[in-house]
Amino acid sequence: MKKNDCLYRLNEFVLHDSDFTHPSYLHGLMHTYRVMAWTQVVAKLAGSEKGRNAFFAAMVHDMGRVNDKVDPSHGEKSAKNKFPIYREFFKSFGASEIDLCEIEEAIILHSLYEENDNETLKILKDADALDRVRLHPAMPDSKFLRFPFTLNLVPKAAELLIFTEEKSNLSPEDIIRKAADLTGVDLF
Ligand SMILES: [Fe+2]
Ligand SMILES: [Fe+2]
Repeated sequence: MKKNDCLYRLNEFVLHDSDFTHPSYLHGLMHTYRVMAWTQVVAKLAGSEKGRNAFFAAMVHDMGRVNDKVDPSHGEKSAKNKFPIYREFFKSFGASEIDLCEIEEAIILHSLYEENDNETLKILKDADALDRVRLHPAMPDSKFLRFPFTLNLVPKAAELLIFTEEKSNLSPEDIIRKAADLTGVDLF
C-alpha cells in the first residue's frame, strides 16, 4: 500500500450530506464523487502530477454552496468555510503548503471565469465539466474544456452518471473503479 496515495486510502473519503452546506442532487455527494473520479482519469490521461491536488479540490469544490442557483462566489464560500476543515487531512497524504495553496486557489477559481496556469484548476474544471451530463446530456461545450481528450470522455461520463443513479450506497472506490473500467484508464 502506498501510504500517501489517496487511491489506496479511499475509505477515508466517504462523505455525508452533513458535510455540505446545502446537500443536493445537483451539487452534492454523488456529483462530488463523480468529479473526484474524473480528476483521476483526466490527470492520468494528461500525464499530470497534480491529480492528487485536483482530487482534494474536487472533494471540497461545491461543499460551501448555499443553493443550486448560479453563484460565482460558491468556490470562495467552499474555500473559506470548508477547505480549512480538511487541510490537516490533506497534509496527511503529503500535501505541501504549495499544494494547499494550489488546491485553495482551484476551489475559489473553479466557479469564476478567471483562469491561470494552475494545473490543479484545469483538471478540476474539466472533471467538473464532464459531470455536466447531469444537466445537459448532449455534452459540455468543447470550448469550455482545457484538455483535448476530455470531449471524448463525455459518453463515459453519461455512463458513470447512470451507474451512480441506478445503484445506492456506492462508495468513492466503487465510483472511481467504475470510471477506470469505463475509460480503460489504469488508475490502481
Ligand atoms: Fe461548483
Ligand atoms: Fe461541481
